[in-house]
Amino acid sequence: MAMAFEVREPGLRRGRPCEPCVMVIFGAAGDLARGDLVPSLYELHRKGLLPERFAAIGFSRSRWDSARYRDEMCRAVRESCGSSREWDGFASRLSFVSGDASAPGDYAALARAIETVRSELGIPGNVFFHLAVPPNLFPAIVENLGASGLARADDGWRRLVVEKPFGRDRESARDLDRRLREVFGEDQIYRIDHFLGKETVQNMLVFRFANPSFEPVWNRNFIDHVQITVAEDIGIGTRANFYEQTGIVRDMVQNHVLHLLCLAALEPPVRFDADSLRNETAKVLDAIVPPPLEDGATPVRGQYGEGVVDGGKVAGYRAEDGVPPGSTTPTYAAMRLTIDNWRWADVPFYLRTGKRMPRKLTEVAIQFKPTPHAMFGQPQGRPRYRSVLAFELQPDEGIVQDVAAKQPGPDLEVQPVRMVFRYAEAFGVEEPPRAYAWLLLDVMQGDQTLFARADWIDKAWQIVDPIVQRWESEPPARFPNYAAGTAGPAEATELLAREGRRWREL
Ligand code: BG6
Repeated sequence: MAMAFEVREPGLRRGRPCEPCVMVIFGAAGDLARGDLVPSLYELHRKGLLPERFAAIGFSRSRWDSARYRDEMCRAVRESCGSSREWDGFASRLSFVSGDASAPGDYAALARAIETVRSELGIPGNVFFHLAVPPNLFPAIVENLGASGLARADDGWRRLVVEKPFGRDRESARDLDRRLREVFGEDQIYRIDHFLGKETVQNMLVFRFANPSFEPVWNRNFIDHVQITVAEDIGIGTRANFYEQTGIVRDMVQNHVLHLLCLAALEPPVRFDADSLRNETAKVLDAIVPPPLEDGATPVRGQYGEGVVDGGKVAGYRAEDGVPPGSTTPTYAAMRLTIDNWRWADVPFYLRTGKRMPRKLTEVAIQFKPTPHAMFGQPQGRPRYRSVLAFELQPDEGIVQDVAAKQPGPDLEVQPVRMVFRYAEAFGVEEPPRAYAWLLLDVMQGDQTLFARADWIDKAWQIVDPIVQRWESEPPARFPNYAAGTAGPAEATELLAREGRRWREL
C-alpha cells in the first residue's frame, strides 16, 4: 500500500517555484485519474507542495457534479493512499465539469469553470491540460482546445500533458506531433513517462554522476554487458481493449525500457536541465543499432498461458476478459541491442519485459568483466568472479553491488558478498513518493527535464517499429509460449545462452 511520503530535506528543485495554476484533467473519471493523478495531487497537498492557489477541474462524460466527483475521488484516494486525512482541505480544490471531450460545443462550460476558479482563487492565466484519455482522443481534444481559445494565454502560461503511448508507430507519432504543434509549442508539451518520475530512476543519474568512482569504469573496458528487466507479476487486468491494440513493445519498450537504457548509457550531461539531459538521451538512441530480425535471431516475443502466480492459479492471456481466443498480442519481449559509440561498442544491452512474470522487478544490472588477472587462483571449473552492480528500481528500491571478498578461514577462498543501499532504510521513507507527484510538480514549474522531447519519441519508434511490423505481419509459431508465473519463453533464455550468458534470476 502506498503511504504518504516524508520529504526530510526539500532538496534542490530544479525549476522555478510553482506559480498559482489550474489543472484540467481530461478522462477525470478514468483509472489513471483515480489511481495516480488525484492521489498524487492529494499527496502534494498534504506535503504542502501544491501552490496555495491551485485548483483541479475534472472533465469527463460522467453525469456527475462537483460534489459527486469529490466523493468518487475521496474513495479513490483512500484506496490508493490508505487514508484520506486532510481530505476536506484538498477537496475544496477539486471541481467537475461534465462534457464530451470530442464535442467542440462542450468546451464553453469548461472555459466557464476555469474562469470561475481563477477569479475565486485569484489565479492568473496559468492552466495545464492533462490528457488522461485513450490516445485516439488526443488530436480532437487539442483541436478543441485550440478552437475554443483555451490553449491561448494572455496573462500566464498554457501547458499540455500527454500520456503514453505517443502514437502507435513512427508515422502516427509524427502526425500526432504535427497536430499538437498546430496548437501548442514544443516548450508547452509535456510527454509523460512516469518511469522518469521514479526516485530510484533519477537516482541512477545521481549515483553515476555525483560519485567519482563509477564513471571511470562505466564503459566497454570494464563492463561486459547490461541487463534491463521490467517484469510484472500482474496480467492485463481490465485493460484488454487497450492492450490488444498496444502489446508489450508499444506499452513498455518504446518508452519505459528505452528510457532506462538511455539513463544507464548516456554521456554526462553538462548540466541537469531539460536541454542538456535530453540532448544526451537522444544521442544514445541515435547510436542504437536496430536488432537483427532474421528467424531465430533477436528479438523474442512471448505470450503467457495459464499458470501460477503468487501461489494462485491465473488464466492465460487469451482467456482474459475481452481478449479474443486466438490473440497474437505479445505480453513479453526480450532483445539484445548494441550502442554504436566509443563508450559502448560491442557491449550488449539485453532488455526484457513481460506480464505475469514470477514477481515484479524493475532493475538495471551492470555486469562487469572479470579482473584481467586471476591472482588468487581459481578452483577447477569455477568461472572467474564477476562483479555486478544492480539498480533495483522497484519494488524494493535500492542499489546492490556484488563484490568478491575473502571467506574467513585458513584458505584464500574468494566468495561474492553483497553491499546494499536500501532507499527506505537510508532515508526513512516507507514508500517512495509517486512518480506522478514529482512529474506534476515539474509541469507546474515548467521543468521539462524528465519529459520526452519529440525527437526522442521519433527515434524510439524508429528502433521498435521494425520489430512491431515484423511481429504483426508474421503470426507467432507458438503462442502462448510461457506459463504465467515463469520467467518467459525458452527462446529468451537461449538469446543469452548463445553468448555464454544468462539472465539474472527473477
Ligand atoms: C504503464 C503500462 O505505463 O506502466 C502498464 O501501461 C504497466 O502496462 C505500468 O503495468 C507499470 O508501471 P509501474 O509504475 O507499476 O511499474
